Amino acid sequence: MASIELKQIHKWFDTAHVIDGVDLLIEKGEFVVFVGPSGCGKSTLLRIIAGLEEASSGSVLIDSQDVTANLPSERSLAMVFQSYALYPHMNVRENIGFALKTAGLEKKLIDEKVDETAKILELNALLDRLPKQLSGGQRQRVAIGRAIIREPKGFLFDEPLSNLDAALRVNMRLEISHLHKKLGITTIYVTHDQIEAMTLADRIVVLNKGQIVQAGSPRVLYNKPNSAFVAEFIGSPKMNMIPCFSEDGNITLQLGSGKKTNIKSPGKQTFKMGARPETIIFTELDKADLIGKLVLCEYLGSEQFAYVDCGDALLITVRIDPTTEMEIGIEVGLSFDQSNLHFFADSGLRIEP
Ligand SMILES: Nc1ncnc2c1ncn2[C@@H]1O[C@H](COP(=O)(O)OP(=O)(O)O)[C@@H](O)[C@H]1O
Ligand SMILES: [Mg+2]
Repeated sequence: MASIELKQIHKWFDTAHVIDGVDLLIEKGEFVVFVGPSGCGKSTLLRIIAGLEEASSGSVLIDSQDVTANLPSERSLAMVFQSYALYPHMNVRENIGFALKTAGLEKKLIDEKVDETAKILELNALLDRLPKQLSGGQRQRVAIGRAIIREPKGFLFDEPLSNLDAALRVNMRLEISHLHKKLGITTIYVTHDQIEAMTLADRIVVLNKGQIVQAGSPRVLYNKPNSAFVAEFIGSPKMNMIPCFSEDGNITLQLGSGKKTNIKSPGKQTFKMGARPETIIFTELDKADLIGKLVLCEYLGSEQFAYVDCGDALLITVRIDPTTEMEIGIEVGLSFDQSNLHFFADSGLRIEP
């Protein structure tokens, strides 16, 4: 395992500035997840770290050694992609051992290493099978096995589970987490899946337009997003964002005719107030901070989300008790938990009240 450091990485594709000054230090053994909207540069950044793509400027350091000019094979990093390209004519044993065979290791040693790797991934019973005789999850494990056997200093995963069905994704997610705990290899993992990001990461790095917007533990990102962008990106369903202004130290919600609340203003003139769905409750109309019409309830078994139309195209999401059955179309009052509100300036940056 190794530390991986990025210093002022920039990448241009012709006139497109795809990576825009990324600085990041990943500690030995850390599990870092890159998230961000499609096209924000996650794969490009990962490929630059792997050496598959050349940075336009900046440097990549592995264990404090500058490897910017090194070939992928000289970086000791193993990359696992979404499409796990196994050799179709080789069985599992040959697929896993292939890198060692090309490196010229003795057959006996290769067999030992393959057995060891197969044990970690619980593939021992499948060593004689061809890839076409395996399920998607088993193939993905073989692909990981091929990476592990090289004893890499770091793992790079680019959306490795997005081709798998939902049940298998959960299994593989647990396996990857388990594997990381067991081997402790420094890992960078790209995903667009909220749950993968929240459950796997020691630290989540949120990217937008080629820049790091915020990097922090899942808890920090969820509870203290530094911007409206991160606030809305982390968490599903999304944080509600309500345009507001302040008057006499209290907040007025900019909805319909405007509703003055007794929520204390964070001090700015105009701003957005963010409230997560689980921090809003239904209340009597005369006590409500906000009134709207219930337009939809999404029942998910263990959870339920109510969508309330508050006018001006603002649909507020409220997490409600799943056992409640509500009549669609009625007027409902909403009340915010004042200790759990977030405020963002017009620039998008967090305001600390
Ligand atoms: N080889 C390439 N040539 C030109 N543009 C590219 C190339 N690879 C990626 N891009 C562009 O760079 C941006 C970032 O791409 P990518 O890193 O794949 O995003 P992500 O993985 O976050 O979805 C996108 O706008 C994409 O179209
Ligand atoms: Mg990508």
